[in-house]
Amino acid sequence: PEATLLRRRLMSWYKEHARDLPWRGVDDPYRTWVSEVMLQQTRVVAVIDHYEQFLKKFPTLVALALAPESSVLAAWSGLGYYRRARMLHKAAKFILRERGGVLPMTSAELRTLPGVGDYTSAAIASIAFGESIAVVDGNVERVLLRVTGRDEEGTAAGKTFVQMQAAALVPKKKMTETSNAAGDHNQAMMELGATLCLPRTPLCLQCPLYSLCQTRGEHITPKRKSQRSL
Ligand code: ADE
Repeated sequence: PEATLLRRRLMSWYKEHARDLPWRGVDDPYRTWVSEVMLQQTRVVAVIDHYEQFLKKFPTLVALALAPESSVLAAWSGLGYYRRARMLHKAAKFILRERGGVLPMTSAELRTLPGVGDYTSAAIASIAFGESIAVVDGNVERVLLRVTGRDEEGTAAGKTFVQMQAAALVPKKKMTETSNAAGDHNQAMMELGATLCLPRTPLCLQCPLYSLCQTRGEHITPKRKSQRSL
């Protein structure tokens, strides 16, 4: 059906146009975790700088767990929202103490860690472990509302609708040695929202989903109803 076509278009675009970010193609769940926590509230360009130096200082979960909090916070400086760093450190200590330093492999278990919510647990589970679970961040929400033509940004009904759409689109295929369909799909959705399906000036003419899209840039900033009815 339509979902299959959308997935295929998205993936072939992503394979060709994905930015070469330092956390892409990384085969270490700890690194995926660090990158996704950094990306929660910080722009990609700022994360790029800090990601490498943070991992140089704390190359493994054990190294992070054993470090004093002050040095973790120092390595976080420039990223802001220091609560994230404290939670990351707390979770690393917990994982070392209670799980022998091994990160949980399912979204449900990841979700129980300090600082790991729906977004981060789904991102780690799909990208690092190939779980078929949808990642929904602000970018993905915007993409799906535009593609489907639903105009409910920010409402509870809109959130539920987006979650269901996103879940219906994630590939069910299991991860193999050489491919991770769910993780790649989720990253492709986020990438599309971050690079083409932009909030104010979407680059619709470059979009792989253009022919499937219900809005095609017609409601460029779907914000308040009063604005559009003018
Ligand atoms: N934003 C947050 N995580 C991301 C990822 N893995 N790929 C693209 N954009 C992201």
